[in-house]
Amino acid sequence: MAEYEYETHDYDCVVVGAGGAGLRATLGMAEQGLRTACISKVFPTRSHTVAAQGGIAASLGNMGPDSWQWHMYDTVKGSDWLGDTDAMEYLAREAPKAVYELEHYGVPFSRTEEGKIYQRPFGGHTTEFGEGPAVQRTCAAADRTGHAILHTLYGQSLKQKAEFYIEYFAIDLIMSDDGVCTGVVCWKLDDGTMHVFNAKMVVLATGGYGRAYFSATSAHTCTGDGGGMAARAGLPMQDMEFVQFHPTGIYGSGCLITEGARGEGGYLTNSEGERFMERYAPNYKDLAPRDYVSRCMTMEIREGRGVGAGKDHIHLNLNHLPKEALAERLPGISESAKIFAGVDVNKEPIPVLPTVHYNMGGIPTNYFGEVLHPTKDNPNAIVPGLMAVGEAGCASVHGANRLGSNSLIDLVVFGRAAAIRAGTVVDREAAIPATHKPSVDKAFERFDGLRHSSGANSTADLRLEMQKAMQEDAAVFRTDKTLKEGVEKMTEIAGKMNDIHVTDRSLVWNTDLMETLELGNLMPNALATIVSAEARKESRGAHAHEDYATRDDENWRVHTISHVDGSNVTLSHRPVITKPLSTEKEGGINLNRIAPKVRTF
Ligand code: FUM
Repeated sequence: MAEYEYETHDYDCVVVGAGGAGLRATLGMAEQGLRTACISKVFPTRSHTVAAQGGIAASLGNMGPDSWQWHMYDTVKGSDWLGDTDAMEYLAREAPKAVYELEHYGVPFSRTEEGKIYQRPFGGHTTEFGEGPAVQRTCAAADRTGHAILHTLYGQSLKQKAEFYIEYFAIDLIMSDDGVCTGVVCWKLDDGTMHVFNAKMVVLATGGYGRAYFSATSAHTCTGDGGGMAARAGLPMQDMEFVQFHPTGIYGSGCLITEGARGEGGYLTNSEGERFMERYAPNYKDLAPRDYVSRCMTMEIREGRGVGAGKDHIHLNLNHLPKEALAERLPGISESAKIFAGVDVNKEPIPVLPTVHYNMGGIPTNYFGEVLHPTKDNPNAIVPGLMAVGEAGCASVHGANRLGSNSLIDLVVFGRAAAIRAGTVVDREAAIPATHKPSVDKAFERFDGLRHSSGANSTADLRLEMQKAMQEDAAVFRTDKTLKEGVEKMTEIAGKMNDIHVTDRSLVWNTDLMETLELGNLMPNALATIVSAEARKESRGAHAHEDYATRDDENWRVHTISHVDGSNVTLSHRPVITKPLSTEKEGGINLNRIAPKVRTF
């Protein structure tokens, strides 16, 4: 039995992760006087939200007519009718409030001449329920919107006396025998001490798992830690087959070039200099949703019209835009293009390629952020004491495909929703749950096993094997063959976690061990992705299955629920919520507006 001494901390709420969702939840909880701790494996302002560029969607109508019902329609259509309707209504309706709150907290948004928040066009955002022209709905702070939001939320959280535990790595959830989450076990990276946090509410805000792939815009810290902890606690993940490829990752490095570049007038060309998106999407053109643009780019390359010596990428043109506009609206990507592609955006096109960017799937939740553990009798049963928000969660507002700039708004709307909910369900007078010792022992046992492992596989080699398999077999286009091969490869790769070796046995700044724990989290996420993708026999959103080219609502308008245990994945389904929160009479949306139809652009 592994013996580790630990320090105990008691809180009303513990938030794991300090990105946009984690900080917005932390701030909202602390504002209400709940004793709140935020645990992060990196310094909060280094969380991956800092890299979010183009902006945050909300129907403020600062640049022309807009409404939350139009935003909701676009989100439903963007999701390819897999999102939960109540959550999508909540997102679109609450978005303006959430953005004005950010403004009042001090986020330095770019401004219009009149001093209003500046908004730019983004893919898939339209007017008149998709019948009208594109809308400028994406609120921006130049092309560093995530950076602006993250720094503001961190400052505000400190002001509200939230307590931060920085460079603490969450090892596992503490679950009571009757399935209530009562805390989390952590390892403090800089001094090797162990910590047990007991709490009435634990919020997983750990981000996505982009690093399961070889080429991703995600930070190296995006290792699906929440999904890994949930899986080990016997909890499910949802819709993991839907992985978003951003059309414009820089060729070679994967570094993000914001969709805002096309929002500001940029366009894609092939080797013939053709603006090919006009052919595929006569109405939306370069501002079609990401899943569609990524597929069109891939088809151009496959048909021999890629650019470069290998004809294996596409050009993004910005050089026709005024120099001043690029400097004012897109300074960050102008710099990235120079550093990572050696390109002066005023003179040359940027070489780009669809790159893994976002996970639509995650830990299933309702629109309050409460984690679901669907049962036969109750598909929406909750796990007491546990919430998940942001990319770690799946509310599900993005369904099979997320619209650009709906991520930052998801973070703040649902971080805020989780705080509001905690304010009503957390009993301030009740005692903090006592430490559930068996759960803590189990976490230390696993930690110690990895720390002293001496198997045949190095963490770096195994991670690379996983990343290559995912990149190859769960790509933009999928077939029965690639997915079947992918499942076989990934099952074998996941099995090798039992035969891993860690070379550094120390506890202080042991990055070898930390990366091994992260790989242990990436693995169930990756496995659930490929197995869920193999099972879904249709094409929907980001899941483009070449053997089943169309959407099949009759059989497949359902969420995929996956339970991962080691290298075994068990799948089941959960119905999509099709009922909105309000009726048309109450000011909501006309249901006919959002009835499923073929998604055209
Ligand atoms: O392109 C971008 O700026 C990314 C935005 C998003 O993923 O929402």
